[in-house]
Amino acid sequence: MSLMEWTERMSVGVAQFDDEHKRLVALINDLFDAVQAGRGRQALGSVLDELVDYTKTHFAHEEHQLKKLGYASFEEHKKEHDVLTKQVIDIQRKYHAGATAMLSMEVMSFLKNWLVNHIQGTDSRYTAFLNEKGVR
Ligand SMILES: [Fe+2]
Repeated sequence: MSLMEWTERMSVGVAQFDDEHKRLVALINDLFDAVQAGRGRQALGSVLDELVDYTKTHFAHEEHQLKKLGYASFEEHKKEHDVLTKQVIDIQRKYHAGATAMLSMEVMSFLKNWLVNHIQGTDSRYTAFLNEKGVR
C-alpha cells in the first residue's frame, strides 16, 4: 500500500507541473516504502535527500514560470515555497543528525499533507492565470 496517490483532484491544469507533482508523490511513497520495509539509514537518507533536491528543482520551475508571466501573487507563492523548503530541510537535517534510523508515521503524514495542501491550496490558484497565458 502506498501512502498517497496523485488524483485528478490534484491537477493544477499544467502538464509539466502535474508531472512534477506526481514525481514528488512518488518520492514520498518511496520514502514510506523504505520506512515500512525497515531499510537502513543510508537508504532512507538518500531518498530524503532526493526529495529535498527535487522539491527545490520543482519550486524553482514554478517560480520561474510565475515570475516570467507576471503572476500577481508571486511573492506570496514564493514565500510559501520558502517555508515548505525549510520544513523539509529541517526533517532532513534532524534525520541525518538523529540516532534513529526511523522516520515516524507522524513525519510521513506531515509530508503527505505538506504536499497535498500546497497543491490543492496555493498551487490551484495559478491554474486560471497560467491557462489564460496559454500554459497548460
Ligand atoms: Fe507551488
